[in-house]
Amino acid sequence: MAAWSSNKKWTVLCFLLWITVTCMLYQNQTTFRYIKTFLDNSTGFLSSKTCACQKCLTDYHPWFLERFNKSVNPFLTRENSLSSEAYNWWKNLQNDHAGFTGYRQVEEKLFGTFPIGADFVDPRPDRCRTCAVVGNSDNLKGSRYGPMIDINDVVIRMNGARTKGFEADVGSRTTLHVMYPESAVDLANTTHLVLFPYKTPDIRWLISALTTGSLKFMSYKQAKARITANKDLVMVLNPAFMKYVHEKWLEKHGSYPSTGILTLVLSLHICDEVNVFGYGADKDGNWNHYWEVIESKHHRSAQHNRNYEYNLLTELSDHEKLQMFRG
Ligand code: C5P
Repeated sequence: MAAWSSNKKWTVLCFLLWITVTCMLYQNQTTFRYIKTFLDNSTGFLSSKTCACQKCLTDYHPWFLERFNKSVNPFLTRENSLSSEAYNWWKNLQNDHAGFTGYRQVEEKLFGTFPIGADFVDPRPDRCRTCAVVGNSDNLKGSRYGPMIDINDVVIRMNGARTKGFEADVGSRTTLHVMYPESAVDLANTTHLVLFPYKTPDIRWLISALTTGSLKFMSYKQAKARITANKDLVMVLNPAFMKYVHEKWLEKHGSYPSTGILTLVLSLHICDEVNVFGYGADKDGNWNHYWEVIESKHHRSAQHNRNYEYNLLTELSDHEKLQMFRG
């Protein structure tokens, strides 16, 4: 019986390999990619799974695999530095004037200043890593989601997010805190700072804000000259990841992706199970924050296509790639 089952598996494997080769010959790239990914992921039924959860994010799913590219490493490291091609896209987001050579000098300084990490990536068959991605929507007010957020292995917050005084609704743990200079806040010593750089000066700011505080940072908004955070836990998003999200996930809608959608796709790359809280504008399309008393409705932004981003979230939820908690 065992031998018969093993023979059957080999027959299926040979058949799939034969289709793969045929597709290669006909250069049918889309079908080939599906089959290749299926073979990659088929360890689930041929031997073992890619993670230890009941379902793994990267399980075979055509709609998801059309967008998800696991070879795109989210974080900047010496081994995964920014290419000139991605720089040429990125430099237009917020008028970067450094030039590629100028950028590379700053990148080099970054690697020389912090032990820049890229933990959290690679899934492991023996691990089921659950993540809570917590946006800043005021739909968290009164939600009592705190314990459901804190129970996750990794809790990801962003920008001006705070927990003190809001624990019942938003929880109290923070594993990763995503920010850019203009949205920076002080962090606890155990929290990883994840910089989302939108221009070369943002990386210069990070170096200064965690060391001398001497940089005069010129931008559309004032940024704190210094912040408190653990220098050993600094991570920086590779701008090429922004390009990937803009092209593959947003199909170029909006000028560039919002922090919220970037964080969401990041979580698809570093988690095995994703639970999403605090996303959703109010009925007029305003992005209000849970910690604010709203006097006038605000926080609209021309750069991001909020409807498209929210629909993408809904689609991911419909395809059971994440679970949405809507407040
Ligand atoms: O406003 P801020 O950019 O700090 O919020 C972080 C993210 O939280 C946003 O990019 C968005 O995805 C999400 N958000 C939301 N609805 C709100 C406020 C924030 O979906 N009302």
